[in-house]
Amino acid sequence: MSMLNVRDSYEELMHHMASNFSCLAQKNIHEHGSFHVALSGGRTPRFFYSLLSREPYISRVNWESVYIYQTDERFVSRDNPDNNYKMIFDELICNVPINIDNVFRMETDDISPSESSVSYSSYLLKSLPVRNGFPQLDFILLGIGEDGHVASLFPSLAHYGLSDEKLVIDVFVEELQKWRISLTMPVINRAKNIFVVAVGNGKSKVIKHALDVSSPHVYPIQSLNPIGHLEWYIDDEAASLISDTNFQ
Ligand code: 6PG
Repeated sequence: MSMLNVRDSYEELMHHMASNFSCLAQKNIHEHGSFHVALSGGRTPRFFYSLLSREPYISRVNWESVYIYQTDERFVSRDNPDNNYKMIFDELICNVPINIDNVFRMETDDISPSESSVSYSSYLLKSLPVRNGFPQLDFILLGIGEDGHVASLFPSLAHYGLSDEKLVIDVFVEELQKWRISLTMPVINRAKNIFVVAVGNGKSKVIKHALDVSSPHVYPIQSLNPIGHLEWYIDDEAASLISDTNFQ
């Protein structure tokens, strides 16, 4: 089941998403005693992470029971401003009372891309419940690129990150001429809850395509077919090309 959340401003959208995230955290921690979440990098979620580290949201979440993973990482040093973990740490992790032993970073220093992806796969298998051979996250936050990539599953990878041989891949992304580490789509699709967030006119074309089940399969986001609950969080600009008829 999918739900579409549209708000006219980025700020309002992020507050709405933070409120729903905190409710989901409370529910999971009440029911299972923990909340295992994988977070995206990029610009869009930055304010969301900052909101979660402040009232009224910070006290709504029992952070001692939260486990944080990454959806993907740019293979640059931990201290590089482009590093996704650095952004998530600076905006959220260092501002909430989470147990740092419950934070699983995609390593990028003194390690090769392939060693990093292999070690991250083992983290997932050790820390998460495994369903049908795949680790199951409680929650994943995904951004989306204007080219329809999610996590670091870019169009040039064709089906590489979509097959179910691997849990985590290390890839040289042609579009960026850079190495990336990423969860694969089979892991993403097995999450219990997924939020996809997009703001701005630049994302309107890919959002229209992603939400229209009749559109031809051209973007990695269209391989998103989760077994759990999917919610879209988009502002008016990113929603400007969609109509009720093409959202299923
Ligand atoms: C990254 C992200 C990536 C991101 C999209 C959207 O490393 O950049 O993990 O998947 O979510 O590129 O990025 P923006 O939020 O900056 O538009």
